[in-house]
Amino acid sequence: MKGLATFAASAGLLWACSEGLTLSRRTNASPKVVGFPVVRKSVPNPLKRDQLRRRSGTVKATLDNEETLYFANATLGTPAQTVRLHIDTGSSDLWVNTATSALCTAKGKVCTAAGTYSANDSSTYSYIASDFNITYVDGSGASGDYVTDNFTLGSTTLKTLQFGIGYTSSSPEGILGIGYQLNEVQVQRAGKSAYLNLPAQLVSDGLISSNAYSLWLNDLDASTGSILFGGVDTDQFQGTLATLPVQSESGGQYGEFLLTLTGLSFGDTVIAKDQAQAVLLDSGSSLTYLPDAMAEAIYDQVSAQYDSQEGAAYIPCSMASNSTTVGFTFSSPTIQVSMDELVIEISSSSGRPLTFSNGERACLFGIAPAGSSTPVLGDTFIRSAYLVYDLANNEISIAQTNFNATSNNVVEITTGTAAVPSATAVQNPVTATAGATNEAMAGTVTLGAGGTATATSKAKSGAMSTMPQMKLTALAVTLGMLYAAM
Ligand SMILES: *[C@@H]1O[C@H](CO)[C@@H](O)[C@H](O)[C@H]1NC(C)=O
Ligand SMILES: *[C@@H]1O[C@H](CO)[C@@H](O)[C@H](O)[C@H]1NC(C)=O
Ligand SMILES: *[C@@H]1O[C@H](CO)[C@@H](O)[C@H](O)[C@H]1NC(C)=O
Ligand SMILES: *[C@@H]1O[C@H](CO)[C@@H](O)[C@H](O)[C@H]1NC(C)=O
Ligand SMILES: *[C@@H]1O[C@H](CO)[C@@H](O)[C@H](O)[C@H]1NC(C)=O
Ligand SMILES: *[C@@H]1O[C@H](CO)[C@@H](O)[C@H](O)[C@H]1NC(C)=O
Repeated sequence: MKGLATFAASAGLLWACSEGLTLSRRTNASPKVVGFPVVRKSVPNPLKRDQLRRRSGTVKATLDNEETLYFANATLGTPAQTVRLHIDTGSSDLWVNTATSALCTAKGKVCTAAGTYSANDSSTYSYIASDFNITYVDGSGASGDYVTDNFTLGSTTLKTLQFGIGYTSSSPEGILGIGYQLNEVQVQRAGKSAYLNLPAQLVSDGLISSNAYSLWLNDLDASTGSILFGGVDTDQFQGTLATLPVQSESGGQYGEFLLTLTGLSFGDTVIAKDQAQAVLLDSGSSLTYLPDAMAEAIYDQVSAQYDSQEGAAYIPCSMASNSTTVGFTFSSPTIQVSMDELVIEISSSSGRPLTFSNGERACLFGIAPAGSSTPVLGDTFIRSAYLVYDLANNEISIAQTNFNATSNNVVEITTGTAAVPSATAVQNPVTATAGATNEAMAGTVTLGAGGTATATSKAKSGAMSTMPQMKLTALAVTLGMLYAAM
């Protein structure tokens, strides 16, 4: 966190006063928004992938987003060079590979799918500095130059956008980080002040009015969605958007999309209540990681079996058709996640389906214990939520996705104070007291067999609580019999 002080002194924008999310329909003009379709990638082994991301024990957004789940096409330079970019709300730099790097010239041509950028082939390229260097927790990363060039996304062209070129790289995919400018590696590593990353540049160029964007999926099964900079499509969610504050980190700074989870339920059964748990919204994480006590309690409810070796739980695949939903509450709004979102088909390394010892098909369960890492709301949660990331106001607006929308109603996010009915600030939102740094949980967690446990004293995140520890050992033995069907 070396660059923080420099940044704090130079950029007041992160402490903008909170006016909330304001939407308006422009009367005479079409809304000032920039939108484009995204494709959701299918991850063959989500658990292994997440483990690579989480290896260091914490989810550090800037450094471990080697692979994210949503991607889009863009072009850079003159004439246009096409690149496929992974969209990442958890990091803040755009960077691309170049065809001449050792990675891209090696046999196997790993860079072909995502494309590359050659500065020498662009007449509009401009060099900035040689201090671009992003590193992932598994040791991979990219380093090279920060440059500027033309950038086109859909029908929108920016005359100039700063990005990194990976002259040295060990990741074949280009990344489009759209998070807080505070997390740019130029700030975090080079100790410089922030530059305008994509959402900030869109504001600066007058293409959108406010640094905010919506991200949603078009339907449950298909793999397409949209990202809409500067706007909200009110037909894509049910009811109204509820606006929650982003939880700030040490020093009152905003660097990550942390929300406060206050409750968890399975159908009518309350699993956890009165919580004040910081959770990270991470579009780059496949699974959702909850405090251990909460994960255990939900395993009890859905009869999931925990495998301590894998750090994840398995559930009969037949549970995908169970109509009970898991509810995630944030002070007042609750997002319901259906079981088919949480039951993930995976295969053994040999490609065969997994079964329990009784022959029943086993699927990966979409909620895993966070252990000592920051709890994360990953793709298994995010698919059910329409989310507005409002970086300008340090707020997140949330609503249940309307998967069956057949129409669009795009309204612009403005900077004024005239809020519209579709976004309402949550009254007295709970401030997180646990989550970021291993403090004790608040409130209570109900364990199916053991009754109610007061989580305050014993269920610290980072250690499975006493009673379930034994149970989990027993489960691990059961899972020793989990095998690939012949
Ligand atoms: C990107 O372009 C490729 C090749 O033209 C196409 O197959 C793919 O669907 C595009 N992806 C998106 C997200 O538009
Ligand atoms: C670009 O061209 C210059 C001058 O010809 C050369 O020195 C440099 O190595 C080239 N850069 C790349 C990345 O190919
Ligand atoms: C980038 O950072 C890594 C890790 O700190 C370091 O090992 C590497 O030498 C750096 N690369 C460059 C080109 O500065
Ligand atoms: C590309 O960038 C150059 C230099 O910034 C600028 O003059 C030119 O207008 C840009 N092209 C487009 C299509 O915006
Ligand atoms: C869903 O699963 C729960 C837990 O196994 C069970 O109690 C409930 O009856 C199931 N509901 C339906 C509709 O199958
Ligand atoms: C969406 O439409 C499908 C098929 O028409 C239907 O089965 C499903 O219940 C609908 N979902 C919602 C959330 O309305």
